[in-house]
Amino acid sequence: MLQLPDLRISDNSYFALIAAACFGVGLIVRSYLTKSGSSLPLPPSPLTSRLRGHSLPLRNPFLTVAEWVDEYGPLITIRRGTEKIVIIGRHKAAVDIMEMQGGSVADRPRMVAAGEILSGGHNLVFTPVGDRLRQMRRALHTHLQPKVAGEYQPLQMSHAKQMILNIDDPSNFRNHTITLFEVAYGKNTPTVVTDLEVIEIRQIMDMLRTVWRSATYLVESIPWLKYLPWYGQELRHGYEIAKRLHTSQLNRVKQQMQSNADIGHSFAKHVLENGHLYALTEIKMAFLASALFGGGSDTVSLAICTVMMAAACFPEEQAKVQAELDEVIGMHRAPTFADQESLPRLQAFISEALRWRPLAPSGGHLHRNNILEENYCIPAGTTVYDNHWAISRDPEVFPDPHQFKPQRWINNQGRLRGDLKFFVYGFGQRVCPGKHVANRSVFITSLLILWAFQLTQDPTEPLDDMGFMNGSLGRPCSIEFKMRVPEPELKCMMENYSEVS
Ligand code: HEM
Repeated sequence: MLQLPDLRISDNSYFALIAAACFGVGLIVRSYLTKSGSSLPLPPSPLTSRLRGHSLPLRNPFLTVAEWVDEYGPLITIRRGTEKIVIIGRHKAAVDIMEMQGGSVADRPRMVAAGEILSGGHNLVFTPVGDRLRQMRRALHTHLQPKVAGEYQPLQMSHAKQMILNIDDPSNFRNHTITLFEVAYGKNTPTVVTDLEVIEIRQIMDMLRTVWRSATYLVESIPWLKYLPWYGQELRHGYEIAKRLHTSQLNRVKQQMQSNADIGHSFAKHVLENGHLYALTEIKMAFLASALFGGGSDTVSLAICTVMMAAACFPEEQAKVQAELDEVIGMHRAPTFADQESLPRLQAFISEALRWRPLAPSGGHLHRNNILEENYCIPAGTTVYDNHWAISRDPEVFPDPHQFKPQRWINNQGRLRGDLKFFVYGFGQRVCPGKHVANRSVFITSLLILWAFQLTQDPTEPLDDMGFMNGSLGRPCSIEFKMRVPEPELKCMMENYSEVS
């Protein structure tokens, strides 16, 4: 999940500021006048007199970006130092640029601290366009495509069932971490989020997220610093830990395969067996498996929390979903994946919840060629972010965008609309490769929860309904769960839940 790096300046970046001052304002002016070879201008830019460029607030920076989009239009240009960044804030522009322009928009901006030092150049998320990216994405796709993702349904049902049985345990919301661990490494992996191994991996991922989001290391402005052995010791140390952890996960799967242990299927097993097809070294395989785990572990839990939060915040809409559940399923059997097609209201509710509070407010891309859009030119080499918050508020696609209206996803025949594009997984060639697995986890867990419980806000702990949008699951959902199905029946149905979709 990508986020727009905070456009703030940390302590060490003041050196960069001094350097920038030496070049003088003239350089900035020149950078604004940089020619793309096109007579069209860059998208408009909100006014700023700051030498360092536009400033965004620490909390919910996407709200400021959305205000700029409302004022200046679907595309805006902001400045960080001398670097220009274009933000896409409307759906059509995102599709035109990210999907229609194919490979020329699939690159990533260079992230020296997070991508090259802390991840040693092995993390898929920072991998530039080229054969290596193609091979990595192909390996992931083979394992996460709809047909294969369907094989994880019993596992997802099993974890959803555990969640129902232990609904009062806040650590439950992290159970999907374990689902993703199994998708990445197979059975015989840790089964609780308090496992030391899982904790260590999460710490490394938190560090990666922080370094990546802040983007404030001096090395971003002066890349050759990375060759100085004393520079960024904490990043180098973090890389050594990540390498040890990810390699030991892969080696464990390898040993299990050598001893013919029954470990079920997993991504690690798949790449170890088929590594030759993707020309991946073992270190790349190890980091790729960890990218799968890292990309999906918190995001899925956050998506489920968002759906639950929406149910608690909008009781009338929750009641409509439950009326559908009562009609299609009733109280005498537990629902399964087989019910999906008969539950358009639930599916619409999930889509609206993820539009209402999109989890990944921005995805970052680097453009290789000039892009012409809406009478503007985005020159090659510009970093472009699709801002999911602003896109989710696009009034042309989502009329009354600030209203929570699941009905907008349903057509006149009462079916899910096929024409409304779901954007939360991103656009184009870098679209989230885990979306089929994620959709299934979010669906089955939301289904069981809304069928079994009525969700209300906890009056003692007011909900921060944007609290999950910072990309990590720092706090549990403070929601109250009232049984809809009598407890003995619910327990009995869950204990006999067949976990076969
Ligand atoms: C509801 C849950 C999820 C959401 C909202 C989400 C969203 C996203 C978004 C917005 C991106 C960036 C796309 C772009 O660059 O334009 C992304 C990338 C990615 N996601 Fe997800 N994701 C979710 C679940 C998952 C799962 C379950 C997995 C793994 C099984 C996963 C693995 C990845 C990976 C590996 C990338 C990086 C792709 C690349 O850089 O080429 N995600 N995701």
